[in-house]
Amino acid sequence: MEQPQRAVDRRQTMIIFDHVTKVYGNGVAAINDLSMRIYKDEFVFLMGASGAGKSTLIKLLMKEEDPTKGSIKVNSRDLSMIKHGSVQRYRRQIGVVFQDYRLLEHKTVFGNVAFAMEIMGKSRKEINHKVEASLSLMGLSMKAGEYPRNLSGGEQQRVALARAIVNTPRILIADEPTGNLDPDNAAQIMQLLTQINERGTTVIVATHAQDMARSMKRRIIYLDHGTRDDKKFYDGNTSSGNVPGADRVNISSSFANAALDNYYDEDNESSDGEKAGGSEEGYDNLFTRDDSVPAEGGADNE
Ligand SMILES: Nc1ncnc2c1ncn2[C@@H]1O[C@H](COP(=O)(O)OP(=O)(O)OP(=O)(O)O)[C@@H](O)[C@H]1O
Ligand SMILES: [Mg+2]
Repeated sequence: MEQPQRAVDRRQTMIIFDHVTKVYGNGVAAINDLSMRIYKDEFVFLMGASGAGKSTLIKLLMKEEDPTKGSIKVNSRDLSMIKHGSVQRYRRQIGVVFQDYRLLEHKTVFGNVAFAMEIMGKSRKEINHKVEASLSLMGLSMKAGEYPRNLSGGEQQRVALARAIVNTPRILIADEPTGNLDPDNAAQIMQLLTQINERGTTVIVATHAQDMARSMKRRIIYLDHGTRDDKKFYDGNTSSGNVPGADRVNISSSFANAALDNYYDEDNESSDGEKAGGSEEGYDNLFTRDDSVPAEGGADNE
């Protein structure tokens, strides 16, 4: 357990893992007696070798898997208490960027991002507005009509990110978001995640990239064989906003602050009074493991 400082104690908690163990059907304990707390205002890295349990932890958070032992609370809600019929609704408050993007090949960039809202039954007007804002934020306005196959890896990554944030999630989870990117693109993505975090979204990034994570000066939770390796605990050790490569970030420096203002202003208002409508089936599709469909979360400020 980390020793929270007094200032930290007052922070609002977003996620609690309390002695969580996940044993898969084959007997593998992917998560092993893991306890951790993530604060609402945090941008935290989950680091660990391949097989350490990072993706399993994300699946537990999404309630795609249930713990074998222990409990998980998200935004004060015990995930074991969420009924089957309410799982999709729960997931809407979480945006996820998968390592392999999971973009829909037969939909344009615009269509991919819009789909995350269509399945929630949003109006066409709101969809057009939000998708444009979200693409603009990611520097993708010019690519709205392209198909994923015509995009670079970094562009596809940004489409996945645009899709993850279009519903203004409370929590944004990115599994290896910079794994396939060059250092400049990686720095840009990190800068964007930082800005999203500063606008009030809890950001969790799973990565192998130790140097990149360290350079961000954010807290790092190290996982080793499904449990915390606190010998390597790193508390970030600095104030926020210290972003590597910030001086050469062009997608955000050119427009992102203005776009973010625009984006979040309207967003925070409009997501109150969320409709419970939308297609549950569409949501199921988003969360299936099939790579031909995206997996996605969104906002649900109930
Ligand atoms: N569905 C599953 N059934 C059985 N075992 C699984 C399943 N998913 C993962 N595992 C096992 O659980 C352990 C943790 O896997 P996980 O995918 O969570 O690791 P990871 O930290 O995300 O790894 P990587 O960095 O390679 O993505 C591994 O030993 C893996 O083989
Ligand atoms: Mg993984």
